[in-house]
Amino acid sequence: MTLNMMMKIVEKSILADTSGVKIVRLEVFFPSVAQKIKPGQFVVVMAAQEGERIPLTVVDKDIAKGTIILIVQEAGFTTRLIGKLNPGDSFYALLGPLGQATPIKRYGKVVLVGGGVGIAEIYPVAKALKEAGNQVEIIVGAKERDLLILERELKAASDRFFVATDNGSYGQRGFTTDILKELLLKKDEKYDLVYAVGPIPMMEKVSLITKDIGIKAIVCLNALMVDGTGMCGCCRVSIGGKTKFSCIDGPDFDAHLVDWQELEARNRIYQEKEKHICNLYKSND
Ligand code: FES
Repeated sequence: MTLNMMMKIVEKSILADTSGVKIVRLEVFFPSVAQKIKPGQFVVVMAAQEGERIPLTVVDKDIAKGTIILIVQEAGFTTRLIGKLNPGDSFYALLGPLGQATPIKRYGKVVLVGGGVGIAEIYPVAKALKEAGNQVEIIVGAKERDLLILERELKAASDRFFVATDNGSYGQRGFTTDILKELLLKKDEKYDLVYAVGPIPMMEKVSLITKDIGIKAIVCLNALMVDGTGMCGCCRVSIGGKTKFSCIDGPDFDAHLVDWQELEARNRIYQEKEKHICNLYKSND
């Protein structure tokens, strides 16, 4: 193996490309990360020298092949650059594993909730929780059927699998949190943990529902990072009144301790900046 094979894309597939949303799966050669990565941890990648760094959850790995699987939804300047990479191309930089691994133990009965590209992020955690002997139930949500990814893999990693779509094109019409509430309120069901990854409003709703019912909930907040190494400070979150960095203290946190209003406000600032960068990019095209 030579150094220039590192970070090389060995396989690429398009998981979804509809209604203006494109989700790409990349298999990347990086044996040291494949060997060490644990569920819930992530890597920071740069597609090109002029690109910014973004964090990506490692969705799966193949230690024998020395590869990791990354799933990217093209949403802004950098994710579009990544989406343009093809087999044979290499990332300019890839750093990891980063972040704290999700605590995997025998909780009992666990329900995982994934929305949007968060569907990919719950997969490694669901798989590990199942292997640890938990009863695993999964609820995933997408705008429409064609945007639902990893269905086969998630079904294999769970005992029960539920789908919600915004337009009712598959599964139940509505939100993941509607299904979650129904499950948690059933008298004959007792859950020990809820784990959620997805849009902030979804995770906040999960937090409210589980707090009301009195069930422990963990949320993965890794979408807020930039450098991923504790240097830039942009992933600051308030957890139980204390400042934490998502990249080094998280990305998983107790949902009931997250200051959701602050998180939403900070996220809005970055969305505005991202829009500005995209407009600059388009005007230079
Ligand atoms: S992403 Fe910069 S400090 Fe966490």
